[in-house]
Amino acid sequence: MSFEIGYISKKKFNFKGRDFLELQDFSAEEIWKILKTTSILKKRRVKVRKLRGKSVAMIFEKPSTRTRVSFEVAVEELGGKAIYLTRSELQLGRGETIADTARVLSRYVHLIMARVYKYETLEELARYATIPVVNGLSDINHPLQTLADLYTIWEKFKKLRGLTIAWVGDGSNVCNSLLIGASKLGVNVNVATPPGYEPHPKYIEWAEVNARQSNSSIKIMHEPEEAVVDADVIMTDVFVSMGQEEEREKRLSVFYPKYQVNSELVSKAKSGVVFMHPLPAHRGEEVTDEVIDSSYSLVWDQAENRLHTSKALLYLLL
Ligand code: CP
Repeated sequence: MSFEIGYISKKKFNFKGRDFLELQDFSAEEIWKILKTTSILKKRRVKVRKLRGKSVAMIFEKPSTRTRVSFEVAVEELGGKAIYLTRSELQLGRGETIADTARVLSRYVHLIMARVYKYETLEELARYATIPVVNGLSDINHPLQTLADLYTIWEKFKKLRGLTIAWVGDGSNVCNSLLIGASKLGVNVNVATPPGYEPHPKYIEWAEVNARQSNSSIKIMHEPEEAVVDADVIMTDVFVSMGQEEEREKRLSVFYPKYQVNSELVSKAKSGVVFMHPLPAHRGEEVTDEVIDSSYSLVWDQAENRLHTSKALLYLLL
């Protein structure tokens, strides 16, 4: 297995005890190290028991299929114990502070993973916890998803540098994190959103700085055809994310049908283009059945890789 940074296996990295809240806090080499570790653990499924005797608390303020199940299975396959907690089942739901929750959990478990409404909740957990805190999605980012996205692309193309991802649709939390991970590893990103639905300005700014260093490009535009024309990968996400249900009608009128990924849009891209989606998908809205169920769709590999990338991260942080 040769990665683009060939010396990665010889280099010493310092992951132990760190929080994983924001990909911008990790260097390109560190992200490569996570991807390389993923590759090793994926081949050695259930044979590495690095978390024996260790416990992980998983706090969910929002629903989840992939993040919850992949992280729980990741912990258990590594020999540890995962504890699933919702806000309403914790005293958090009755007014105990985030700081006190973080202090107490730090006395019982070895890592906290949390899916939250507000990124500030993760920052507060991390400030008061004495153990690593992992971001399982917030309003502005979803770095765990980006690890699986990058790994899936690498698995398909056997390289990342110089590839181009077209993101079509909402400049969502998933898009924000993708901009960071891709720009650090030399992947070009074309983002086509309706005006007013671009990625977060801070993430565009960070990604532009990263792209200058990695010799890649970040382009923000409004025409899906322009975004996909030179793309190796087309990605999208739901038009109405969790917590935006009240905006559903307005958002659909803005996004649909122009930003739907359908066969006609895919036909404007290069041959060999692949389709990706973090899931869950709203079939018939942001993507058609014929695209998500096509032979060029990587969505099931991408979902599976949430497990292997989470294992790699747990392995390195603990
Ligand atoms: N992609 C993702 O995070 O899926 P879940 O919301 O099901 O966890």
